[in-house]
Amino acid sequence: MQNLLVTGGCGYIGSHTALLLLEKGYTVYIIDSNCNSNPFVINKLKKIIMKKDKQLAKNLIFFKGDLRKKKDIERIFEYSKHNNKIIEAVVHLAGFKSVNESMKYPLMYWDSNLIGTINLLKVMQKYLCYNLIFSSSATIYSCLENKLIDENFPIKPINPYGNTKRCIETLLEDIYKSEKAKWKIINLRYFNPIGAHHSGDIGEDPNGIPNNLFPLILQVASSKLRELKIFGNNWDTRDGTCIRDYIHILDLANAHIAAFEYLSKTKSQIINFNIGTGKGTSVLELINTFKNVNKIKLPYSFTSRREGDQKYIVADNSRALSTLNWKPLKSLEDMCRDGWKWQLKNPNGYIDN
Ligand code: WQD
Repeated sequence: MQNLLVTGGCGYIGSHTALLLLEKGYTVYIIDSNCNSNPFVINKLKKIIMKKDKQLAKNLIFFKGDLRKKKDIERIFEYSKHNNKIIEAVVHLAGFKSVNESMKYPLMYWDSNLIGTINLLKVMQKYLCYNLIFSSSATIYSCLENKLIDENFPIKPINPYGNTKRCIETLLEDIYKSEKAKWKIINLRYFNPIGAHHSGDIGEDPNGIPNNLFPLILQVASSKLRELKIFGNNWDTRDGTCIRDYIHILDLANAHIAAFEYLSKTKSQIINFNIGTGKGTSVLELINTFKNVNKIKLPYSFTSRREGDQKYIVADNSRALSTLNWKPLKSLEDMCRDGWKWQLKNPNGYIDN
């Protein structure tokens, strides 16, 4: 298989995944509404890819579109058919992904994440495209202990964002069961992707004040925010702050390539993979690593715990390591160094371009 559609390809994970696919010579169609991303990413991707090989840039085809409008999806599939490079697989990343925002606007999350996916699946069936890699999340797990989370861990999301991801996985299970001989579906359950491409030309460009720790660290380090508030230092962990599994965005993007290449060679199935490093890092450890690597101050203070937080969310990634011929290669230092390089080169994200 050569031709893929990346939904949400202008986003943080989408842009890094699209770049690696292009570098490997695949044809990459991107559909993105740009309601939560910047279309300038396409120019950035072309700039990076042309440094490697000018010819590869023609393999990137961008359509602005919204998965809530089935016609927008049909347009790109129709184009791919007439372009004699019919879409053979979909990496489905489009959707809203903020836990806090999902609690304020559940209807927006259900509409975008679920209805968008249903429309996509209908069009995929219409164009006989049965290969799907879905952007799922560790947020669906109920994690109450200090244990590494494997794919058989209890599933019990506690916020609307996690509920939409869980519901979509259930829908995909139903779709697979209805046409077992045809569908190949992979759910990639992400842990905490952070950092940026080592060029500093693409990275995470959150809309407004971010909710997640690493983009907030970048904003405090660049004095866009006065100090970082650490949500609780009385957790039952080695330093009292929560522990997470931070993974370099390029390692996460590579997991999509590995999943796609696995799908190309395997029989029809539906399978889940935890995509993390298997290593836990506390909030304080991440802050101190960032300060040491980048030789920079990072003012912070402790405040009360955030609703819904768990103390320990770290992947057991052994299934992905053994099945996908994939492993995370980058260190926490790489994540901190590459993230800071992106921030320095793009202090206001893509809007400056
Ligand atoms: C990490 C740690 C906070 C902000 C995320 C996303 C979700 C999903 C899973 C993809 C926690 C602490 C944070 C701050 C802090 N990703 N923190 N002060 O909660 O693990 O969930 O990953 O599907 O999109 O929500 O990540 O970055 O929000 O928090 O102390 O100002 O940092 O308590 O322990 P989280 P996060």
